[in-house]
Amino acid sequence: MSIAQNTETAARLRCIFCGAAPDCAGQDFRCTACGDLLEFVFPGWISDSPAFDPAGLKSLWLNRRTSRNPLDQSGVWRFRELLPHIPNPEEHVITLREGNTPLYRLPRCARATGVENLHAKHQGLNPTASFKDTGMTVAASSAHQGGFRWVACASTGNTSASMAAYAARGNMRSLVLIPDGKISWGKLSQSLDYGALTCQLRTDFDGCVRILNELVRQKPVYLLNSVNPYRIEGQKTAAIELMEQLAWEPPDHIIVPGGNLGNSSAIGKALLEMRELKLISRLPKLSIIQAYGANPFYRSVREFGGKKLEPMTADTLATAIRIGNPASWKKALRVLQATGGEVEEVSEVEIAAAKAEIGADGIGCEPASAVTLAGLKKLRRSGFVKSGEAVALILTGHLLKDPDFTIKFHRGDLFAGTGDAAEAVQAKSLQHAPFVLDADLGAVIAAVDAAERNS
Ligand code: F0G
Repeated sequence: MSIAQNTETAARLRCIFCGAAPDCAGQDFRCTACGDLLEFVFPGWISDSPAFDPAGLKSLWLNRRTSRNPLDQSGVWRFRELLPHIPNPEEHVITLREGNTPLYRLPRCARATGVENLHAKHQGLNPTASFKDTGMTVAASSAHQGGFRWVACASTGNTSASMAAYAARGNMRSLVLIPDGKISWGKLSQSLDYGALTCQLRTDFDGCVRILNELVRQKPVYLLNSVNPYRIEGQKTAAIELMEQLAWEPPDHIIVPGGNLGNSSAIGKALLEMRELKLISRLPKLSIIQAYGANPFYRSVREFGGKKLEPMTADTLATAIRIGNPASWKKALRVLQATGGEVEEVSEVEIAAAKAEIGADGIGCEPASAVTLAGLKKLRRSGFVKSGEAVALILTGHLLKDPDFTIKFHRGDLFAGTGDAAEAVQAKSLQHAPFVLDADLGAVIAAVDAAERNS
């Protein structure tokens, strides 16, 4: 089975490497000529055509927020002029009203980093609590429109949770391949409740991807990993919505975590397209942050000038980004270079500390999201980000996705007995361990008084 392109839409598929423009994609979403990734391009976009009048589009998108149409209520589909068209949307679009996520100021983090104008766009406030929903609504709708019974993904937990939910809403069966023992219970529990066939494979994420790629070549199963270009299109909308929230005045920097590198590619693609359509007048620098133990892209850029990427065996407590062979690295490299962004790597302790600091601002996120703040601190130290500049962090997942990590950190157990124990001492002041007390008023008052003295 192949996935047909809709001829009514202006969107066309194109290979990012050889430029081949297939009429339809194979089930692995790879170019049949050279094997590289495909992307959507929009040859019909002409920036001075009335259909793409920037002021007209901006007010159309804003007005849709008050509509009762489910498509308009979605923070993805209300930007549908910049997405591939799904025919018969009433029948095929699967939406949980994703997107429409808040943009918050982070006052404490702003003081700690010396960046006064610091915002966080919280993609963890999507329906399944991660940014994956914005891409999933588009790609799952495309699977539905293609008549697929089964959809599948390999995942570190968030893609699987999202896919399982959208498949259930669209009456499709879903197959989840996840690394056994290496995803958080919160994420695993979501795919169980949403009714996915969940297979915990005795391998890592990259091993799950290998099996899945073989599977989709043999069975009529629709691939929902971020090599699927529909996912990337949906994930673009986070950047469009961010610009809308900033009154179309781009920040100087956007900072994202890097795992499989689909999200950075999507946000970068949106920035370039918005500039092309004159929706924004200049490009923010898009910087990508990885964990030390899962840093193949950082090493690719810093050691090899982006000429090659050496896969590695990844390891980090930020399990969402425990990825050693990122599929979309070439797409991410292109947007990194086009926007003049930077790559950084951060330690396990830096990630845990940054997570608690975001939490202390009353926002909270999962460990992989916190690499953004940890990365910002390093980019401030290197002088790449200046104090007067405006910065937006993309928080990708909700705090409650991985409560184990949070509880262990605050109890002081996260790094106990590991090589990071000495460095972890620096993060002690951020820990708020729970107290176990007798059911006694005096004991509680003593705890409050002690906390007051220490604050
Ligand atoms: N943050 C979170 C919370 C994630 O779940 C992921 C990826 C990323 C950041 C990195 O995004 O892969 O587009 O560079 N999670 C995937 C998953 C791989 O299977 O849930 P990326």
